[in-house]
Amino acid sequence: MNREIYFDNSATTRIRDDVIDTILQTYLEAYGNPSSLHKKGIQAEKKVNTAREIISKAINSTSSEIIFTSGGTESNNLAVKGIAQRYKRRGMHLITSKIEHPSVLNVFKFLEQEGFNVSYIGVDNNGVILLEELKKEIAPETILVSIMMVNNEVGSIQPIEQISKILKKYDHEIIFHVDGVQALGKIPIDVEKMGIDLLTISGHKLHSPKGSGALFLRDGLELQPLFDGGGQERGLRSGTENVPAIAGLGRAVEIASAEIDYFNEKIIKLKKLLIDRVLQEIPHTYLNSPSVDSCFSAPHIANISFEGIKGEILVHAMEEHGVYISTGSACSSRGSHKSHVLYAMGCDTRRIESSVRFSFSILNSVEEVNFCVDKLKQVVEELRTIIRR
Ligand SMILES: Cc1ncc(COP(=O)(O)O)c(C=O)c1O
Repeated sequence: MNREIYFDNSATTRIRDDVIDTILQTYLEAYGNPSSLHKKGIQAEKKVNTAREIISKAINSTSSEIIFTSGGTESNNLAVKGIAQRYKRRGMHLITSKIEHPSVLNVFKFLEQEGFNVSYIGVDNNGVILLEELKKEIAPETILVSIMMVNNEVGSIQPIEQISKILKKYDHEIIFHVDGVQALGKIPIDVEKMGIDLLTISGHKLHSPKGSGALFLRDGLELQPLFDGGGQERGLRSGTENVPAIAGLGRAVEIASAEIDYFNEKIIKLKKLLIDRVLQEIPHTYLNSPSVDSCFSAPHIANISFEGIKGEILVHAMEEHGVYISTGSACSSRGSHKSHVLYAMGCDTRRIESSVRFSFSILNSVEEVNFCVDKLKQVVEELRTIIRR
């Protein structure tokens, strides 16, 4: 079986050829250290600054507000720990949601051990944050709210602009961090309009290298850095910059921004086709993501439960046919499959255990979706027959 169909793009994406070209060229030509004073250093620094400008333009910030990191996990750690530590004299209360990625949730758990008080806001059955609950939790001691823009397991879009408007109504400043890892290149992001103070970006979700990422930090805000060192990235992220990966990230963001409308049009069609065919042609299947027509639905993620079949069994059975899908998030998919996201949405254990995630990229096609559904029909029937015996 030579055919490979990759529907696990929320876990990571295949790097694009034009991004590889940029990286290769940077490795071969701009190999200097951006901190060096000579020509080679300046050439490398230019690569970093070009990427900074591209990313800032993509999210409507200024280039001095972009800090390069090693990816989403580091940006989330830097943002949440950095703000909490820097502003704790103003208050020790933090707010996040129950459906964040572990790179946010586990940071808040750590901060609880450090003496911070954390409120975890619930979601409705579409995986959308409960704004009334958020309002109730805000207190004079609240210094930071961290809410993701698009959930990585079900693809629910959070009402970021509405949340920032709520936060601005209070007399004291409440800093707003948004994990934008699953959103950049998929839905438009405007940090000004959306009232975002910090935004996490990860490269490998949009066809650039693993280990590349950035954090937008609004001018005027301060952060406690995670590392002490040479003072790169305005002293907020010491360590010699990974210039080729940064250049690749810049190129990937440039392509994704130019293609965002085309991406949406194409991917929504694929997602709709998959969902419609699965729900109509395979009995006892349930959509866990918001419906495709809903304004809360991201274009690239469909989470579906196949009653009676464990998600991991279905993942491996589909792999036999060259189709790669996943159970919930990549981080939890090697461990026991108990999605904290579906649990927060009110799904019961059977539905949670039988859920799988399909996530699309611009590199996927209608033909691949049809092949996947044909194989799903066959595999689900075979597995249910075995289970019934
Ligand atoms: C929503 C979200 N945040 C953060 C991360 C972590 O990003 P990275 O893999 O770049 O560390 C992921 C990765 O799956 C994610 O989906």
